[in-house]
Amino acid sequence: MGHTTAFSVLGLLSLLVGTCFSSSLRDQVRDRISVLPGQPRNVGFAQYSGYVTVNEQAGRALFYWLVESPAVRGAESRPLVLWLNGGPGCSSVAYGAAEEIGPFHVRPDGKTLYLNPYSWNNLANLLFLESPAGVGFSYSNRTSDLYTAGDQRTAEDAYTFLVNWFERFPQYKHRDFYIAGESYAGHYVPQLSQIVYRRNKGIRNPAINFKGFLVGNAVTDDYHDYIGTFEYWWTHGLISDSSYHMLRAACNSGSSQHPSLECMRALNVAEAELGNIDPYSIFTRPCNNTASLRRNLRGHYPWMSRAYDPCTERHAEVYFNLPEVQKALHANVTRISYPWKTCSDIVGNYWADSPLSMLPIYSELIAAGLKIWVYSGDTDAVVPVTATRYSIDALKLPTITNWHPWYDNGKVGGWSQVYKGLTFVTVTGAGHEVPLHRPRQAFIVFRSFLENKPMPT
Ligand SMILES: *[C@@H]1O[C@H](CO)[C@@H](O)[C@H](O)[C@H]1NC(C)=O
Ligand SMILES: *[C@@H]1O[C@H](CO)[C@@H](O)[C@H](O)[C@H]1NC(C)=O
Ligand SMILES: *[C@@H]1O[C@H](CO)[C@@H](O)[C@H](O)[C@H]1NC(C)=O
Repeated sequence: MGHTTAFSVLGLLSLLVGTCFSSSLRDQVRDRISVLPGQPRNVGFAQYSGYVTVNEQAGRALFYWLVESPAVRGAESRPLVLWLNGGPGCSSVAYGAAEEIGPFHVRPDGKTLYLNPYSWNNLANLLFLESPAGVGFSYSNRTSDLYTAGDQRTAEDAYTFLVNWFERFPQYKHRDFYIAGESYAGHYVPQLSQIVYRRNKGIRNPAINFKGFLVGNAVTDDYHDYIGTFEYWWTHGLISDSSYHMLRAACNSGSSQHPSLECMRALNVAEAELGNIDPYSIFTRPCNNTASLRRNLRGHYPWMSRAYDPCTERHAEVYFNLPEVQKALHANVTRISYPWKTCSDIVGNYWADSPLSMLPIYSELIAAGLKIWVYSGDTDAVVPVTATRYSIDALKLPTITNWHPWYDNGKVGGWSQVYKGLTFVTVTGAGHEVPLHRPRQAFIVFRSFLENKPMPT
């Protein structure tokens, strides 16, 4: 090949790359959030949000919200973390961003935001994704998609999202990238991780520089999760002996997303026995706006007078439905026919495929040498610590460091066990949403994960 040909090919290439880069850069600039209604001023970090089309034929687009690290903390050299909530059908904006790990939490007025001092964006750039289509601001123009959502399409759409998103944000290519999430995202996170890992295989210096994942109170393996959940309910005195035996007999196989009729009956009996507690956090009061009841409960249970607000998701529902908020977020640009909700009943109720176990994926990704951390708030009765322990035990991993307490300022923050290829951490006193109930301890877990260091002792 002569000089001229090589030169012109290179010239054409750089021209193409240049055009592509500038159009994606235009999208990025368009997505920049100037300021959110009611947010504190001069926060020192940048935010972007908008849509990424994942299927043109159907007209499916996923909504993301990127919250960067503060410039003074070196945002441009920090890793990127994708955060997913579960349900299925629940929004990462409602939970992850607005009441767990994001910098802005919503005040009870539903109009103003306050700073979360333990926001994970102090350590990493955070990418919140509302997934799948039908959740939050993410939509599909083909309505039937909402009634046929399932694990597989969710993972494939999320992967397509990532590929397109990295084109829009080329500054994040080749940077350390992690996937994190909680609850039913215990499915999404390993499934998406597996796709990214497999597509990256054999590529040197891949654009999506995937390093590992982190899950909390994660649905992992239906069989072991069930055993551990029923045991938790019984040992915490939440259900009767007979219900315990009935659950063990009726729900010993099959899917937690699609339980048998017999299992469903046993679950209904158990639920009635649990009564009006918050199963996601069994020692804190459930959300109830009546002032008298609140006062009563505070009188009985002094530890409940702390700052934690069990109605916080209701405030988010007010805030994210404000037209001026949607405008600032570049959300709902197609005038979606239903309101923004914290969880989509349609997506959740009609959920299709849901594999029984994530453990084979764990085995594959552990063998690949990825960084894998699993944490658990130990006052959650929905995906309890016992469920997670049985599921991890089923992986039969050799232990590197035995079960031991970890400390925060001289106080036990929880316990940890390091396995070959997987680190397990509990956070004591935390419910299902660990960063909501124990923000400081959750921050320490996240920092240790990023630094790949054992929990502080
Ligand atoms: C969905 O339909 C609206 C209205 O026709 C259109 O503006 C929008 O681009 C479509 N979304 C996608 C992802 O194709
Ligand atoms: C809230 O409190 C009122 C009055 O005590 C009660 O009737 C209602 O059922 C409670 N709601 C919830 C969701 O607990
Ligand atoms: C989208 O906007 C329309 C008004 O244009 C509103 O009725 C609808 O509730 C909004 N939906 C979502 C998901 O934000």
